[in-house]
Amino acid sequence: MHEAGKLLASCHKEIAKIIKAGITTLEIDAFVEEYLAKHGATPEQKGYKGYPYATCASVNDEICHGFPTDNPLKEGDIVTIDMVVNLNGGLADSAWTHVVGNISEIAKRLLKVTKESLYLGIKQALPGNRIGDIGHAIQTYVEAEGFSVVRDFTGHGIGHNMHEDPHVPHYGVKDRGPRLDEGMVITIEPMVNVGTWRCKIDANGWTARTADGKLSAQFEHTVAITKNGPLILTEQL
Ligand code: MF3
Ligand code: CO
Repeated sequence: MHEAGKLLASCHKEIAKIIKAGITTLEIDAFVEEYLAKHGATPEQKGYKGYPYATCASVNDEICHGFPTDNPLKEGDIVTIDMVVNLNGGLADSAWTHVVGNISEIAKRLLKVTKESLYLGIKQALPGNRIGDIGHAIQTYVEAEGFSVVRDFTGHGIGHNMHEDPHVPHYGVKDRGPRLDEGMVITIEPMVNVGTWRCKIDANGWTARTADGKLSAQFEHTVAITKNGPLILTEQL
């Protein structure tokens, strides 16, 4: 899983290099498939419950599960690229909100707060803590910054399958929920909105977007719980 995570991290770094106004998310999706194939890996999302692409690409007010499209990205867009990499049966999952050129001040602050909230959540991923400790840390910080935490989608356990128990909500109450134990691997993936946390789903049955049309961002890592503390398998070094 760690090897899959390192490859996924390097793939996000490559995306950051090629993303610019004019590129389409279908082109990014094709780049990812080729990059993974070149490194002996496969995109686990493709075909998962009928999902048709290697990546999810969620632009601006899209929260998650956006379909890659042939619309050129524009200067100032933010786009969350989410993927699960399978390398020799080891899985890793990481979403990252990438920026297209210069973005607005509010978008900058949204990205900063969302990323910071991910790392605050990760700090709580310790043996003996509970799932609620993670969500509580994220929610408290995000709401103090005036943003909202998406409720309808959560992090999850990951192992032989992309989605395993437990659910990892990005909101919650301290000392509540399943106990975290050494050896568990989970994703922490806060989706943070400028306005309401409520979402609506597109006619394609997948894409979630903010109910008020305001911006949404997401940063996700796959994290192993060890006696030496959280080990981030998808860190971009
Ligand atoms: N990578 C997503 C997650 O973090 C899963 C996408 S579901 C898919 O849970 F069906 F689109 F693949
Ligand atoms: Co993901």
